[in-house]
Amino acid sequence: MKAIIWTKYGSPDGLQIQEVEKPTPKDNEVLIKIHAAAVSRADTEFRRLKIPFPFSLPLRLYIGLFKPSRVKILGTEFAGEIVETGKNVTQYKVGDQVYGYTGLGFGTYAEYRCISEKPSEMAGVMGKRPTNITYEEAATVPFGGIEALHSFDRVNIQHGQKVLIVGAGGSIGTYSVQLAKHYGAEVTGVDSGGKLEMLRSIGADHVIDYTREDYTKNGKKYDVIMDTIGGSPFWGSVNSLNENGTYLNANPKMSHMLGMGWAGKSNKKLLSWEAGYSTENLLRLKELIEVGIIKPVIDRSYSLDQIVEAHRYVDSEEKKGNVVIKI
Ligand SMILES: NC(=O)c1ccc[n+]([C@@H]2O[C@H](COP(=O)([O-])OP(=O)(O)OC[C@H]3O[C@@H](n4cnc5c(N)ncnc54)[C@H](OP(=O)(O)O)[C@@H]3O)[C@@H](O)[C@H]2O)c1
Repeated sequence: MKAIIWTKYGSPDGLQIQEVEKPTPKDNEVLIKIHAAAVSRADTEFRRLKIPFPFSLPLRLYIGLFKPSRVKILGTEFAGEIVETGKNVTQYKVGDQVYGYTGLGFGTYAEYRCISEKPSEMAGVMGKRPTNITYEEAATVPFGGIEALHSFDRVNIQHGQKVLIVGAGGSIGTYSVQLAKHYGAEVTGVDSGGKLEMLRSIGADHVIDYTREDYTKNGKKYDVIMDTIGGSPFWGSVNSLNENGTYLNANPKMSHMLGMGWAGKSNKKLLSWEAGYSTENLLRLKELIEVGIIKPVIDRSYSLDQIVEAHRYVDSEEKKGNVVIKI
């Protein structure tokens, strides 16, 4: 089969298309013919692994110390079709169309991938895919969709609340904006200028270009501030909450964590990231998509052999919503 082999940490040209052995499913696994895989910001961050060595060490021990030697194929989100099942598989059959997230199992930039029919939380999640969207659209749902859905479950968002979303133009953000609107919130999306028109088109009531305006200094208050990227000023955000408001940071930096510990005694609710990967959440997203409540935002689609261009585009930070490869 064809796969993108991850040959080095660093620039996108370390991603090379190669012919490798097609995997065979174990008794509890299904073999998926992957039709599309998302190219996410996380993929590009893993590819670069440009963080100080002491912090990257645990990941390097897992992926490979000086180059990716244990994990060979990047990619964590997929949509595809089951083409073979192991003998103990009961929930799926050949021909089922599925989507999912492989987490630290990686391996979706390939024509085929074996997955346990009940993936564990670390290794990801899988479910039947929505039937009214393309494989490319479906491949972008599992990570961003679940992050958004699970975050709002924890916040217990109410009709009429004012919700501000930081990083609204990204993968998690575009699902968050649509879900918050569905729950009846008045939504403010914060992102860079080139993404604001798209944010309005998916329902944001107000938009803020973070490169020009600091939302913590405009005097406005919110019931919920959801930071998808870890880019929000901590104290400014807490001060921009209404009494009993909630600040949720899906990617907290050290300063956010320290702030949460320090400010934890206030009556404002401060929440950090929590995993929500479950088949049940994928099925809820399938239903929300099939009735038209949320729709994946696809910016660009590439072919497998254009993976270097796809990564360069995500690196450019112009990505609106999601980028995908069609396999
Ligand atoms: N998608 C995944 O599979 C995955 C998995 C694990 C972890 N994560 C992490 O989750 C985070 C969000 O993921 P994502 O996939 O939603 O990323 P994304 O698609 O790149 O979206 C992030 C958005 O935030 C914007 N942004 C950056 N700094 C900002 C700031 N200070 N204020 C407001 N907006 C800002 C970016 O715009 P500009 O670039 O134009 O500034 C971009 O539109 C990332 O840190 C990622 O590493 C993602």
